[in-house]
Amino acid sequence: MYLTNLKVTNFKSYTELDVDFCPNVNCLVGNNGVGKTNLLDAVYYLSFCKSCFNSIDMQNIRRDEDFFAIHGRYGMEGETVPVSCVCRKGQPKQMKWNGKLCKTLGEHIGRVPLVMVSPHDQGIIQGGSEARRKFIDGVIAQTDRVFLNHLLQYNRALEQRNKLLRQFYEDRNWDEGSIGVWDEQLVRHGEVLRGARQQFLEGFTPLFDEYYEWITDGSERGVVTYVAEREVPLAQQLAEARQRDRYAQYTTVGPHRDDVELTVGDMPVKRYGSQGQQKTFVLAMKLAQFEYIFRSSGMKPILLLDDVFDKLDMVRVTQLVELVGSDRFGQVFLTDTQPGRVRGVFETIPQVEHRIFKVEKGTLEVES
Ligand SMILES: Nc1ncnc2c1ncn2[C@@H]1O[C@H](COP(=O)(O)OP(=O)(O)OP(=O)(O)O)[C@@H](O)[C@H]1O
Ligand SMILES: [Mg+2]
Repeated sequence: MYLTNLKVTNFKSYTELDVDFCPNVNCLVGNNGVGKTNLLDAVYYLSFCKSCFNSIDMQNIRRDEDFFAIHGRYGMEGETVPVSCVCRKGQPKQMKWNGKLCKTLGEHIGRVPLVMVSPHDQGIIQGGSEARRKFIDGVIAQTDRVFLNHLLQYNRALEQRNKLLRQFYEDRNWDEGSIGVWDEQLVRHGEVLRGARQQFLEGFTPLFDEYYEWITDGSERGVVTYVAEREVPLAQQLAEARQRDRYAQYTTVGPHRDDVELTVGDMPVKRYGSQGQQKTFVLAMKLAQFEYIFRSSGMKPILLLDDVFDKLDMVRVTQLVELVGSDRFGQVFLTDTQPGRVRGVFETIPQVEHRIFKVEKGTLEVES
């Protein structure tokens, strides 16, 4: 599945844009602030019904306008499928797939698989455990609707339990029975989450190892480990934590507190990894994410590479483009500020089909 045409109206820095893409590598080249990342974000919207960077839809409407519209046409087994996202101030946004309105946004997720690689991914390493859980849950949810459902229900139950804990604290009241009702829900969905995350990592690890080795020429080994209390059943953990939770006013144990440990040579990459090692780690995770989704769904996700060339030497850049331009990958969009670097890469690997777009404020022009 690949994006053949994109039309954008009033989206972020764009007033009007209509552009055709090639099925392989599309390069968006231009100076800082001209709208390269914004364009990737429009493509991201069509897959996830939201921005990769700004969760407030209204802020993605071009300043002083009152709606944005993104229309994409995807080539799929010889057919063309239109997908659109329209967002008006004060109204719920509307996603359409093949002319039909999606009843829920969740129904659309997974139809156009996509993987975004951006400088923000460093948060997976630098951020708190939530960023790592989000990464893992996000990959599983893109390929497994049942998991997504359990995740949503778990989060709902957690919110209710925390609300109750706060209320009891304020009212100087305590009712084990009411807390128990939410514990049952947390156990029901939480055990599934922990099982699925563990199982996911078993499938993900060999793919991660392969890419990590490829990027580092096998000079070191990165390890991704799920850290969760799985010896004691979740029901018992929640029961034992009840008095602590009562005074803390939130739920202190459960899958929402689990972490994913990232190490290189037995050392946490967050504390001990160099900038280059951290970048390498995240890139391997993202490429493994691509492979995982491809194997689970049978569809090659669209790959968006935002500013990934930074801090990589020319040999690495060329290797990376050669890899993502090979049959193993599908359609790729990448951004760069240096036209010379992008042209240079394709002179070395002319076999990779590509299109270079020159991005200037609000416009896109095909260069080759
Ligand atoms: N809602 C909006 N309305 C108008 N302009 C917006 C809106 N949201 C973002 N912008 C503008 O978009 C520009 C940033 O675009 P973008 O992040 O795509 O640049 P870029 O080409 O990726 O730059 P860099 O090379 O620095 O990454 C900013 O100048 C910002 O003001
Ligand atoms: Mg950018």
